[in-house]
Amino acid sequence: MINTGFIGGDFGYHVLRYAGRHAVRQPACDGSAYRHRSKIETLLGPGIWEALAGKVVLDFGCGVGIDTIEFARRGARRVIGLDIREDVLEPARRGADTAGVADRCVFTTATDERVDVIVSIDGFEHYADPEQVLRTMRQLVRPDGRVFITFGPPWFHPLGGHLFSVFPWAHLLFTEKALIRWRSDFKSDGATRFCEVAGGLNQMTVRRFRTLVDRCDFAVERFEAAPIKRLRRLSNALTREFVTAMVRCELSPRPAAAERTP
Ligand SMILES: C[S@@+](CC[C@H](N)C(=O)[O-])C[C@H]1O[C@@H](n2cnc3c(N)ncnc32)[C@H](O)[C@@H]1O
Repeated sequence: MINTGFIGGDFGYHVLRYAGRHAVRQPACDGSAYRHRSKIETLLGPGIWEALAGKVVLDFGCGVGIDTIEFARRGARRVIGLDIREDVLEPARRGADTAGVADRCVFTTATDERVDVIVSIDGFEHYADPEQVLRTMRQLVRPDGRVFITFGPPWFHPLGGHLFSVFPWAHLLFTEKALIRWRSDFKSDGATRFCEVAGGLNQMTVRRFRTLVDRCDFAVERFEAAPIKRLRRLSNALTREFVTAMVRCELSPRPAAAERTP
């Protein structure tokens, strides 16, 4: 885990309380970017519909199933919505029913079915063990299949701390302890670390994600660290971690190291 933050103690906590009371809701994270368009298409591009047409799709970390349902509505043969939280799967099932795609959607907390396409949207900055998730994906995708991943903002983005980014980069300036103490004023789940907050926060960076992918027997077909639009001109190898708004990539399985001939 990344140790960041140097403003702590009572001082840090009180500054956060003050900043929290005067915080302006950040439009980048309120979902408004997708209000009148498909989130899936915005993040993965229009080519995604062709990639999943007639295919069996696994929506990894599906949440309440909004994307799962859209996959089914827009051409997937069958979609499995997978999430570790049973409480989000019931609304997902009801949503599929209402949308008339219940016959093509399954929502579950576990699967061992091999699929043609795996999609993970906004999960990789939350999964407690992202390397294990990639290994699971590697096992579940068919040899000629594809994995599409998009997540963001990554940890060093101005709002990479999600709720903890009371103002840009606040999650890097304040100690974890001060941030968690401030959060416990209005959340009662007893979290004492970033990784324990509801939904989890694993401090994923662009570089760490890329390293994990390389370790997990995937070939990288496409990899993009898309910069924050307004800071696009500042984006280069040195600033990339700080100005990347989201990561998106397309992976294909390659034979495991042990299976490759020398
Ligand atoms: C931020 S939500 C994203 C939900 C949805 N993909 C979306 O874009 O709206 C991340 C989801 O991943 C789920 N999740 C976390 N760890 C998981 C795991 N190991 N396996 C499956 N789902 C997981 C969480 O429960 C949560 O619903």
